[in-house]
Amino acid sequence: MKTLELPQTDLTASDIVLGLMRINDMSDEDIRTLVGTARDSGITMFDHAAVYGGWHGCEQRFGSAMGLSSSDRAEIVLQTKVGIRQGFFDFSESHILESVDESLAALQTDYIDVLLLHRPDALVEPEEVASAFSTLHAAGKVKHFGVSNHTPGQVELLKKHVEQPLAFNQVQLSITHANLIAAGVAANMGALDQSIDRDNGILDYSRLNDVTLQAWSPFQKGFFDGVFLDDRENYADLNDALDEIAAAHGVTPTGIAVAWITRHPAQMQVVLGTTNPGRVQESAAGSDVRLSREEWYRLFTAAGHLVP
Ligand SMILES: NC(=O)c1ccc[n+]([C@@H]2O[C@H](COP(=O)([O-])OP(=O)(O)OC[C@H]3O[C@@H](n4cnc5c(N)ncnc54)[C@H](OP(=O)(O)O)[C@@H]3O)[C@@H](O)[C@H]2O)c1
Repeated sequence: MKTLELPQTDLTASDIVLGLMRINDMSDEDIRTLVGTARDSGITMFDHAAVYGGWHGCEQRFGSAMGLSSSDRAEIVLQTKVGIRQGFFDFSESHILESVDESLAALQTDYIDVLLLHRPDALVEPEEVASAFSTLHAAGKVKHFGVSNHTPGQVELLKKHVEQPLAFNQVQLSITHANLIAAGVAANMGALDQSIDRDNGILDYSRLNDVTLQAWSPFQKGFFDGVFLDDRENYADLNDALDEIAAAHGVTPTGIAVAWITRHPAQMQVVLGTTNPGRVQESAAGSDVRLSREEWYRLFTAAGHLVP
C-alpha cells in the first residue's frame, strides 16, 4: 500500500481511503470485518459525511460498531463532511459548529482529522466559514480542513477569509467519469463535448496549490448508475483492456481501476465505496501497481475518451 505525505497537513495516509457512505444497514460485526480488512490491507484513512445514512447515521454505525480505543483512534485518519441538509446546502457558522459536535458524538471521538465542506453552498459567506473553522481548530475538534466538489474560484473565495489551509478537494472521478482529466487532453477542440471544462480547471489548480484531490465513486459509470466493471454491454473495450492489464500485473480489474487513478502524478487518493471485504483487498492491491503510459492511455481511450 502506497502512503502519501499529505501536503499542507502533518498527516501521512494511505492513497486508498475507505468511504463509509453505504454501511448504514450493515451489522456491527460486518462493519468490523470491513474496517478490519481495510486496516489489514494498509488502509489508514476513513471517509464519512454528516448526511450519509440519514442524519449522522453512518457515523453513528461506525462509532458504535468500532468503539475505538484511543490507541486505535490515533492510528487512523478520520474525515467527515458538513454542509448538506434536507433539500438545501448550509455553510452557516451555526450549522457547521452544530454538525461537527454531532459528528464527534456519533463517531465517539474527541477530534476529526479532516473536515470537508461537502458541496458548494450558493449562499456561502466565507467570513462565517472562517469563523467556524477557527473555533473548531482552536478547540482541537478539527485538525485539518478541505472542500468537496468545489471549483478553483470557490476555493479562492474561501481562502480569502479562512486562516487554515484548504488541503483537500474530494471530486467525482473514475475512468469513465473523467472529465476533469479528459478536458485537458482535448483542450480547445471545436464541437467536442470532452473539450468542455466543467470544473474550471480543478486538476491543474490543485496541483499548483498542493491540494490533494480525492476521487469519489471510482468504479461508477456516472452519477450512481452502477459500475463499469463487467458492464460489457456499454464498456466492452474497457473491460477487455482491464482484464488484459489486470492479468499482466497479477491483480483484478478492480485493482487496475484503482491504479488508473493512483498513476496520475497529482498524487490523488481513491475513496472506495464497497462494503465487500474482498473488493477492498482487490482495490488495495491496485495501489501497488504502477501502470505504464501505454496502459494508462489504453484504458483512457477504451473508456471512450479521445486522444486527439
Ligand atoms: N464528496 C461527495 O460528494 C461524495 C459523493 C459520493 C460518494 N462519496 C464518497 O465516496 C465513496 C465511494 O463512493 P461510491 O460508493 O459511489 O463509489 P464506488 O466505490 O465506485 O461504488 C461502490 C458501489 O458499487 C458496488 N459495486 C458493484 N460491483 C462492484 C465491483 N465490481 N467493484 C466495486 N464496487 C462494486 C458496491 O457494491 P458492494 O458494496 O457490494 O461492493 C457499492 O455499492 C463513498 O463511500 C463516500 O465516502 C463522496
